Amino acid sequence: MKNILEKLYKYNDLSPEELLEIITYFNYSDPERLFFYAQRTREKVYGKKVYMRGLIEFSNYCKQNCLYCGLRRENKNVERYRLSLEEIMECCQEGYQLGYRTFVLQSGEDIFYDDDKICRIIKAIREKFSDVAITLSIGEREKKSYRKYFEAGADRYLLRHETASEDLYKKFHPTMNIVSRQNCLQELKEIGFQTGAGFMVGLPGQRDENLVEDLLFLKRLQPHMVGIGPFIPHGETPLGCEVGGTVAKTLIMLALTRLLLPNVLLPATTAMGTLDPIGREKALKAGANVVMPNLSPISVREKYEIYQGKICTGDESAHCRSCIETRIHQAGFEVDLSRGDHITIGGKQ
Ligand code: SAM
Ligand code: SF4
Ligand code: FES
Repeated sequence: MKNILEKLYKYNDLSPEELLEIITYFNYSDPERLFFYAQRTREKVYGKKVYMRGLIEFSNYCKQNCLYCGLRRENKNVERYRLSLEEIMECCQEGYQLGYRTFVLQSGEDIFYDDDKICRIIKAIREKFSDVAITLSIGEREKKSYRKYFEAGADRYLLRHETASEDLYKKFHPTMNIVSRQNCLQELKEIGFQTGAGFMVGLPGQRDENLVEDLLFLKRLQPHMVGIGPFIPHGETPLGCEVGGTVAKTLIMLALTRLLLPNVLLPATTAMGTLDPIGREKALKAGANVVMPNLSPISVREKYEIYQGKICTGDESAHCRSCIETRIHQAGFEVDLSRGDHITIGGKQ
């Protein structure tokens, strides 16, 4: 194992067989060495900086029906909400005062927000806060729509590929297909977005071979950001009684992603903090370098329940802001409040 790890650290690449060997090996062995190499890799590129993104969950309506997600359209036990432009701007104002210079606008796939509405939101933010990065995470749209958002001033787009396994994708996405999902990611990159892919760990039936497929997919796509989190069951979905993913396995996948894509922006996800009180700190120590505290109004937080037990649903934005800062310092890292672009964009590290 020592040789494979050293090879990965040195060349940032491995064969599919070697990747599988690493993943299966660390199912039963202490991953300390893997995390050590992942940390060193991240430090070479980004030092000890942790970038902050303010997350605004502006609508929980969704036309899709992903089997794992609490926002799926067939879940009738969720009170749906939409934020107005004014409410979104208030979140940004608060976020800006708290020091955030990246806003992530996330929602279900909600066609109420057509291209005009999305562009109006982007332009309003851009006009008022000229030095922020605007990230969208609103699902699959047509390429011409993505282009409009980019031209309106959006900089980044998060669209997890969810799983690179065709079989698993089909099983969990009755209303979607893997080819369109992956095409969207290509299109976003072509347009010029800093693009984020990503996947869930521990989906029912997911095998180590499938996780290798995820890593190979990322290596081919070369995204700027990668969101990786454990699958957490939600009682009001068809997967409510399934076993979820683990923090331990997710940490291995974070570390491998850091080593395969040294420059990537890699969040310590809220899902990690939900499964383990120090899950996000553990993620930082396994190679992650981004956190995304919530900026949504308290009144809607509980309604954006993609999985159960989500942390921070009752906490004011200012509280999350200082909570996460303390955690980052205690874990031995530095808070960086700049836009935190990918190292190839502007190179302002
Ligand atoms: N609707 C957009 C989309 O799907 O790209 C953005 C919002 S969606 C709620 C954001 C992410 O939540 C998804 O990409 C998915 O990976 C994650 N997610 C959904 N349900 C989850 C669950 N039960 N456990 C963990 N992550 C989940
Ligand atoms: Fe909708 Fe996204 Fe949830 Fe799928 S993961 S149901 S697209 S919000
Ligand atoms: Fe929200 Fe700690 S980050 S309470």
